[in-house]
Amino acid sequence: MEIRVKAGGIQAEDVPLIVVNLFEGVTEPGGATGAVDKALGGQIRALIAAGDFRGKRNETAVLYPAGAIPAQRVLVVGLGKEEKFDLDGVRQAAGAAAKKARELGVTRFSTIVHGGGRAGLDLEDAAQAVVEGTILASYRFRQHKTEPDEDERPDVEMVTLVEFSTERVPVVERGARAGQAIAEAVSMTRDLVNQPANYATPTALAEVAQKLAVDFGLRCQVLDREQMAELGMGALLGVAQGSEQPPKFIILEHNAGRDDLDTIVLVGKGITFDSGGINIKPGEHMAAMKSDMAGAAAVMGALRAAAALDIPLHVVGLMPATENLPSGRAIKPGDVLKSLSGLTIEVINTDAEGRLILADALAYAQRYQPQAVVDVATLTGACVVALGEITTGLMGTDPDLVARIKAASEKTAEKVWELPLFEEYGEQLKSDVADVKNVGGRPAGAITAAFFLSKFAKGMPWAHLDIAGKALSDKERNPYTPKGATGVGVRLFVQLLRDWGVD
Ligand code: BES
Ligand code: ZN
Ligand code: ZN
Repeated sequence: MEIRVKAGGIQAEDVPLIVVNLFEGVTEPGGATGAVDKALGGQIRALIAAGDFRGKRNETAVLYPAGAIPAQRVLVVGLGKEEKFDLDGVRQAAGAAAKKARELGVTRFSTIVHGGGRAGLDLEDAAQAVVEGTILASYRFRQHKTEPDEDERPDVEMVTLVEFSTERVPVVERGARAGQAIAEAVSMTRDLVNQPANYATPTALAEVAQKLAVDFGLRCQVLDREQMAELGMGALLGVAQGSEQPPKFIILEHNAGRDDLDTIVLVGKGITFDSGGINIKPGEHMAAMKSDMAGAAAVMGALRAAAALDIPLHVVGLMPATENLPSGRAIKPGDVLKSLSGLTIEVINTDAEGRLILADALAYAQRYQPQAVVDVATLTGACVVALGEITTGLMGTDPDLVARIKAASEKTAEKVWELPLFEEYGEQLKSDVADVKNVGGRPAGAITAAFFLSKFAKGMPWAHLDIAGKALSDKERNPYTPKGATGVGVRLFVQLLRDWGVD
């Protein structure tokens, strides 16, 4: 999608559709909406007076100027109650408008910057949120459709942000560029997660990373099975041994070799399909396990955005990638694996495979002596039980890092909630035959999984995000999060990185 920014009055735009807005309860619109209302001879006031539009959050109404202004249509989007309005309200309003535009078959429209005229919201942030909402709401995954859906509409191709004040245009421009880079990264992550497992193999993920490196100036290294064996990544290779698809350990780096910058390592679980292995899963929801690489996909998206935004940090993405399948060669319950850290792991359940591959990735992260390590993983069904399908589980050993993640969550509206890592939970992971076992029983399943990971992150400021249930949605979550892959984690990571040096 092409995004433009220009100075002027929205009522002068000669396009198929212009977008203005209204807070709930307003009867006399001001600003750009007021200007359009005047040009239309009071049509927006009449709409409100008739009770046909109340300005409820994401409510839309379409008016037809019939020559009163150059635009063919006017879309009014509701912003809800002014005192409750925030940056996510901007994202959602922009998303609602973009969805309505597509429904109308409009491929080109102009919009004001929702929230831009309001004290309390930063104009640059508002412009970023408008672009994020617009692009993310327009996302769809059509790669495998050979025929159009019934009533299918074309994609919106061009959106222009119109800012009245010329001096403010550069600010809107900056926000819009960032919003576009971030939303395109999220869309890429969504594509990877929506992609079925017969396409998104570990090899295919490695190829995407390599292409990203070329396109965005990142450094990419891909370790194959032999190289992993040489290093001693016995936990990752244990998971991979049941599959015909070769595993890959993917490393993407932004500002590689810049030792003057802080190093942040992002680690993403890349199970391209999780059948459960010998502890095979029931069939009912197994197809959704193509999304078990959503952590790796989020890391890939974050690295893309970090490069596009030229974030002044050394950012390392580690993406251990493999399938988890049963076969005559697969690991069995009771097997013991020797991990890269040297710790031995008794595999009680082959379906707790994510923590095995992450254990080796976290041990690998140690070599960077990073200022922070954050892993992201569709790790436990227990986290879905605890926090549902909208809130990411957050656990960590470094209070400052945890606080930074919470702050990034507030700004991006990617909800997180912290769960405790009390020492006592460690009891549940004691093994009779090895240093640790890979499951701690039913109680506190999300926490014991994180506790297991903490053993491999020793000495590093570390936090863990459990996105199980958050990565793939069976319904639309809000106007800018359609059904399917959500791209969860990318915006959160980008915010964390952008705010790193700003205290
Ligand atoms: N990939 C799953 C977790 C998951 C569950 C992701 C639901 C998305 C939605 C993970 O590998 C897994 O199977 N975890 C087991 C762990 C158990 C065996 C200790 C689980 O949560 O049941
Ligand atoms: Zn599993
Ligand atoms: Zn899994």
